[in-house]
Amino acid sequence: MAKPLLDLIKHSQIPAVPPIWLMRQAGRYLPEYRRVREQAGGFLNLCYTPALAEEVTLQPIRRYGFDAAIVFADILLVPHAMGQELWFETGEGPRLTPVSSGADLTLKGAREHLSPVSQTLSRLTQSLPADTTLIGFAGAPWTVATYMIAGRGTPDQAPARALARTQPEKFQEIIDMVVAVTIDYLADQIDAGADIVQLFESWAASLQGEELERWCVRPVAQIVDGLRARGLQTPIIGFPRGAKTPLGDYAQKTHCDVLGLDTAVDRRAVGDACGADIVLQGNLDPQILVAGGGELDAAVDAILQDFANRRFIFNLGHGILPQTPPEHVAQLVARVRKAS
Ligand code: CP3
Repeated sequence: MAKPLLDLIKHSQIPAVPPIWLMRQAGRYLPEYRRVREQAGGFLNLCYTPALAEEVTLQPIRRYGFDAAIVFADILLVPHAMGQELWFETGEGPRLTPVSSGADLTLKGAREHLSPVSQTLSRLTQSLPADTTLIGFAGAPWTVATYMIAGRGTPDQAPARALARTQPEKFQEIIDMVVAVTIDYLADQIDAGADIVQLFESWAASLQGEELERWCVRPVAQIVDGLRARGLQTPIIGFPRGAKTPLGDYAQKTHCDVLGLDTAVDRRAVGDACGADIVLQGNLDPQILVAGGGELDAAVDAILQDFANRRFIFNLGHGILPQTPPEHVAQLVARVRKAS
């Protein structure tokens, strides 16, 4: 059976209705997610238990019939697999034991540690509707490293930026190790059945110029090229949130097939700057999804209009917020689909 979202990337036709999925579409805004998380006894158990991760991946598909499912996991499973302790403080976000060089990390066993995610994907190839595209993912190395070095989320990524500036060779070791683990991890996700993979560069905004090239663009290109060198032609979505660089250049230099746009991106300018061979994805403001009503309808219509003449995947400009009313998501999907 055809998969409309995957087909959009592989072929050059522009469909009448763009495919839609949402970043963080499985999560706390859904009561059925909160129940399974409770049953799992914590977020990490949920990520590492394939039957439960499968269930929460399917929840938003059942409710809304999205065109794609994204496997339930987290970008911080990679540092966990490399030997860092990882835990989630309720209401405060992730905590890790901080690292400052490659010597604090290990590659041994990382692939095995991450195998539950591939098992979740294998299960989903059996349980998803046949027309639903299956998305795997990982964090981009810079974004993952910002958490590894600080040991937590930071507003300005200062600890990682300081290490990159003062001890670039030590920082490079960490990035190189994350690149190596991520290539294996995504190759395994693809072998298990992922139709597409997305690289989340959530903290691209904290670097610019040469540093952006070295720590964001180059490692992502190495991952894309590493997958291609293994004969994997799977489409890859790059999502450089807040990147201070022309996005057409980012797509070209990283060799991504799809460019994820954040909320702040000027849609018409990006549409003009990127050739028709790049598929664009985005960029509804998650706060407008929280607001709902006429404001939501108007914002959806504006996006549909701006991208009417190109290959485009409807999404948010960042992850769905926990306080989002589930009925607003239904309103969004209906609005996108009745626009044909
Ligand atoms: O999109 C999906 O539905 C798939 C699952 C997914 C999660 N995290 C589940 C999750 C994906 C794709 C991610 C990506 C992720 N994780 C990113 C990149 C995207 C972004 O949002 O910028 C980052 C930076 C992380 C790291 C992370 N994980 C943080 C900072 C937090 C805490 C903040 C928060 O939202 O609670 C998490 C936890 C997390 N990851 C939750 C979920 C559903 C919430 C955990 C819970 O159930 O309490």
